[in-house]
Amino acid sequence: MNTERSLDQIRADLGPLADRPGLAISLAELGQPGSRYRITTPAAVVDLDALDRNLARQAERARQAGLAIRPHAKSHKTSAIALRQMALGASGICCAKLAEAEALMARGAGPVLITSPVAGPDKAARAAALAARDLGFAMTVDHLDGVAEIGNAARSIGTRVRLVIDVDVGLGRTGVSSLDQARQVAEAIAADDNLDLVGIQGYGGQWQHMAGANARAAAVGEGMKTLAAVATALRAEGHAINLITGGGTGSFSADANQQVLTEVQPGSYAFMDRQYREALADDEDGAFETSFFIQARVISANAPAWVTVDAGLKAFATDGGMPEPSGEAWAGAKFRFFGDEHGMLTRPEGRVVARGDRVELTAPHCDPTVDRHEVLHLVRGDVLVDIVPVEARGASQ
Ligand SMILES: Cc1ncc(COP(=O)(O)O)c(C=O)c1O
Repeated sequence: MNTERSLDQIRADLGPLADRPGLAISLAELGQPGSRYRITTPAAVVDLDALDRNLARQAERARQAGLAIRPHAKSHKTSAIALRQMALGASGICCAKLAEAEALMARGAGPVLITSPVAGPDKAARAAALAARDLGFAMTVDHLDGVAEIGNAARSIGTRVRLVIDVDVGLGRTGVSSLDQARQVAEAIAADDNLDLVGIQGYGGQWQHMAGANARAAAVGEGMKTLAAVATALRAEGHAINLITGGGTGSFSADANQQVLTEVQPGSYAFMDRQYREALADDEDGAFETSFFIQARVISANAPAWVTVDAGLKAFATDGGMPEPSGEAWAGAKFRFFGDEHGMLTRPEGRVVARGDRVELTAPHCDPTVDRHEVLHLVRGDVLVDIVPVEARGASQ
C-alpha cells in the first residue's frame, strides 16, 4: 500500500472518527491508484507535494534571513502539519487560542506561543497548566490585570509562565498602546517570581494583504519603528528582550529586510488561499502554491446550464467571495453558493459533466474553512496517502 504511515497508525490518530461510515470508505481506499477521487465528499484535501514545497521554501527563506520561524497553527489546526514544520527547524508553533494549544500540544507540537492575550482567571489557570506541562510554553499579555491573573494562576500550581508583551503596531486589536504601558507591564512581570518576561510581539494584520511589495514594506517599516522603540526602552531598563516576534506570510520580505523581528509567525503560506494569492499576485511573498482544496461531487446534473455539487455554505468560510474550481476539466465554470449544503457550478466549456463527477475548489479564506472539517485527506498526485485529524478544529475557547 502506497501510504505514508501504517493503517494502524492512521486509525489510532483518527480515534473514533475512523469508525464513521464515510471515513471508513475513504480509509479503505488508502494507497490505491486514483483513490484521491474516490473519497467521501465534501472533503478537505491537501496536496502533500505542494504543501511540502511551501513549508520547505518558507523555512529556507527564514534561515537565509537569520530569522527563527514559529509558524502560526491557526491556519491548519493540525498536528501532522505542525510536526512537519517543526521537522524543518521551526522554533515551535503559534496558536491563537488556549484550546488550539491544548489540542496540538497533546500531539507533541510545540513549544507554543499563544499570540492573543486572554482575560479571566479561568483562562489564566489554563495557561498556567500548559506552562506546567511544557516549560517552553509562552503567553502574550497586554495589560497589568492579565499579568496579575497569570501570575496568581502560576503561583497556585507552583509553576512559572513565560510572557511576551503584545505591542499594538497599528492594527488596534490587542497590544499595549504606549511605551509607558509597555514599561509598566514589563515591571509587573519582572516583580512576579512566577513569571518570566521573554520578549515582545508586534503583529500587523493590516499589512498582510496589502497589494504591492513596496507599499507593504513601507507600512511594515512604520510599524516596526514602534516595536523597535519598545525593545530599546525595555532593554534600557534592564529587561532581557531576547525574542521579538510577529509577521505573517505577506510581510515576510519586509520583515527580513528590516531585521527588527528575531522570529516570524507566518501561517497562510502552508495552504495559500485565494485571497492571499490575489493580493500578493506577482511578488516573492506570494510565491507559494495552493495546497488546500475542498473536493465536492456533482449530485444533480439535470439543469442545462449548471450542475449542483454537495458543498455549500457549511463547507467553506464565506467572508472572502466565491470558491473557484481548479483544473482544466472545469475551465470556465463558476461557483455560487446554492444554500447550506449545496453549490452551483456553471457547466465547463467543451465538456459534458455528469452526476457523480468530482471537482476540487480552492477556498477563498483557508483558516476558517479548515475549521469546518474534521480531517484532512493528504494526497500525492491521484493517490490518497494519509488521513489526519484537524485536532484543533472548533477549538475557539
Ligand atoms: C498574531 C498572528 N501572527 C501570525 C499570523 C499569520 O499570518 P498569515 O496567515 O497572514 O501568514 C496571524 C494570522 O492571523 C496572526 O493573527
